[in-house]
Amino acid sequence: MKTPYFLISEEKLNANVEDFKKALQDLWPNSTLAYSVKTNSLPWLLQYLRDTDVFAEVVSDEEYQLARLCGYSDDRIVFNGPIKGEETFQQALLGKAVINLDSVKDLEYLKKYGKDTEACVGIRVNVNPKVFDSKDIGYEEDGFRFGFSEEAGDFAKALNCIQNLYSSPNIGIHLHCNSITRSVNVYIALAKYAVELVRKYGIKLSFIDMGGGYFGGVEGKPTPYDYISAIKNELMKEINPNETRLIVEPGSAIIGSAVDLYTSVLDVKDTNCSRIVTTDGSRVYVDPLWAKTRYMYSLQSADFNRVPLDKQIVCGYTCMDHDRIMIIKNETELHVEDKIIYHRIGAYSMTFGGMFIRYYPDVYVKLNNGIHKVRNRVSVEDYYKINS
Ligand SMILES: Cc1ncc(COP(=O)(O)O)c(C=O)c1O
Repeated sequence: MKTPYFLISEEKLNANVEDFKKALQDLWPNSTLAYSVKTNSLPWLLQYLRDTDVFAEVVSDEEYQLARLCGYSDDRIVFNGPIKGEETFQQALLGKAVINLDSVKDLEYLKKYGKDTEACVGIRVNVNPKVFDSKDIGYEEDGFRFGFSEEAGDFAKALNCIQNLYSSPNIGIHLHCNSITRSVNVYIALAKYAVELVRKYGIKLSFIDMGGGYFGGVEGKPTPYDYISAIKNELMKEINPNETRLIVEPGSAIIGSAVDLYTSVLDVKDTNCSRIVTTDGSRVYVDPLWAKTRYMYSLQSADFNRVPLDKQIVCGYTCMDHDRIMIIKNETELHVEDKIIYHRIGAYSMTFGGMFIRYYPDVYVKLNNGIHKVRNRVSVEDYYKINS
């Protein structure tokens, strides 16, 4: 197999899905596991998850239509985000998707098209960051971007709008928060906030969507069981699990730990300052936000008897000086054709980074019966077609 390529472990992927399913089944059977498509929207993955009974959580018309193309019926889609288009909104309403309202436009579409539908609608809540420990959450000063703020009065307005539209509305709430730590405490705080809202507004919830942002498949970190039990402990104070469906939308926890990237060393040289190792990987593939400094990695070399070097700077294929993937210390001296394998990089990687200088690499999946290619690297001809 020619590097660079991603390799998905079906075994790990399946274990991550099963961990969530088991936690939900044991603790809150009236629940839905929805996969966050943006985290990795590889069609093979979406089809695999569809076949394992996982819903798709989407945040654009394009992701919605991709999920449909991958075989999800509308009623197995959770439609989120503030940029929903009018036509897809109508389709989602008619098809009984879960729709979490996140903009004034969403409310207008609901008023225009929702009247005689059995809409399954929730309100994305703009959670006050003060409810969290500041070490867990960013945006402490300026607050989150998404949802309707209770404190600013917009949550009540959205609620009113839905209640005026339906005599016995199926109202849900959606509370996704991106945290820095993925700590269980974030979900305890979110659940407490939800309980307060439910008490204050006397809402009978058809569903509560706790969003994504969990760990999964990572030793020493919280498990789906830890998160769901903590959420349940708090929600049970006001919410009956038999009457209110619990939705969770993990992305990284499903695919993150199940993917490795295989790269090769293309060139090794010394400058007056450093040992530079140029590879066919790139931060474009593993770190599209250009923010990471550490990776879980392993090295494959024909000869591990080489003397280790104090410091080697591993760089990517792009001709950008800051495409420095990582600095490795006290490692075997790398030579041309050695391999560097990055582990647990399935989230926000293979379908996030753009096609820059070189194009998308191959993706393989390791199944019981061998290794299969599930995405062909993008050729120059493909690239030309897409861009002309
Ligand atoms: C609404 C929503 N749900 C789920 C997720 C998935 O998050 P993660 O991949 O961290 O689980 C995100 C990511 O930002 C999100 O915005």
